[in-house]
Amino acid sequence: MNLIDVVKESFKKHFSAEPAFVVRAPGRVNLIGEHTDYNDGFVMPMAIDRAVYIALRPRSDKKVRLYSIDFEIWGEFSLQDLQKDKGWLEYFKGVAWALQQDGLVLNGFEGVMTSDVPRAAGLSSSAAIELATARAFHSVSSFDWNAKKMALLGQKAENKWVGVNCGIMDQLISAVGQKDHAVLMDCRSLDLEAVPIPNGTVVVVMDTNTRRGLVDSAYNERRSQCEEAAKFFGVKALRDVSLEEFEARATELSQLTYKRAKHVISENERTTQAAQAMKQGDAVLLGKLMNQSHESLNTDFEVSSDALNIIVECARSEAGCYGARMTGAGFGGCGVALVNADNAEAFAKNVATSYKNKTGNEASIYVCSAT
Ligand code: GLA
Repeated sequence: MNLIDVVKESFKKHFSAEPAFVVRAPGRVNLIGEHTDYNDGFVMPMAIDRAVYIALRPRSDKKVRLYSIDFEIWGEFSLQDLQKDKGWLEYFKGVAWALQQDGLVLNGFEGVMTSDVPRAAGLSSSAAIELATARAFHSVSSFDWNAKKMALLGQKAENKWVGVNCGIMDQLISAVGQKDHAVLMDCRSLDLEAVPIPNGTVVVVMDTNTRRGLVDSAYNERRSQCEEAAKFFGVKALRDVSLEEFEARATELSQLTYKRAKHVISENERTTQAAQAMKQGDAVLLGKLMNQSHESLNTDFEVSSDALNIIVECARSEAGCYGARMTGAGFGGCGVALVNADNAEAFAKNVATSYKNKTGNEASIYVCSAT
């Protein structure tokens, strides 16, 4: 049963009625442009065919009441008295808070939710919840849907309510993803350009099933190192430094700042080049740039891990693999590969086997389509 039917059935069971709305917001995989969003740079994610679904109907008492099919648990909060707490409802409350802070008048709703975006894997399950929540409020209230604004408010919920200092990429792609396309995003202007996934290729997500603690602190540390580098160059963000300017003054930087800045500045170039390659249907060049991105993230930005390096190696040694890299914040989580569609099935099977042989761990492999 697909998840739309799952939430509809569950709604019927719990409320003895049909839902008034079913909303959906997808997770994402980033093809290239990593750790560049908070440097005002370029990213190129695609929305995947895994998503958060909520079946709902309006309530007239300014309350939100929700059943999580996955956790088998009910939760409830009032829009008139939002209190921070811990637990699965915080994303929903955070979005309610951010929308209301923006002056939007919200009505309550009740319903059921489920998701097939793997949690904490680096596929933006929380951004998907945030955008699905915004969409749920939109369907029972009377404000206009502006995708960019909703993404920014989702990010605000994550930053200020949940307390995770992420950039704009995850929420924005969940809001604007397009079928068969990745989206090149300028994270300063929020200009967007849909670019087609090369014909005859598929995007394969490879979850190492490793999760490292302290990801947030390492992420925040990278952010401040980048800010320090931008300050050195006297610019607002590393986005404003060209490779030439960077190389010209490289020896004045500490070795650590040098490495962090080098990743971001070169990654911005790779990302815009990758978009060009995609427009020309050049899977070979795109794959090459993905490989280079991984090397840069591993050596200069130092956010990869043994498990990620191994799964990327496993992927690259398979027939039909154009390129592979870690994706998302790093320190565990997922790799992503661009693979010839004819090889996809064998690729998935073989990568799982060779990863298991090398690490003793099970990988989860998802052949994804852009939605
Ligand atoms: C996480 C953040 C994003 C982005 C990536 C790294 O997914 O949520 O905003 O910074 O890491 O590219």
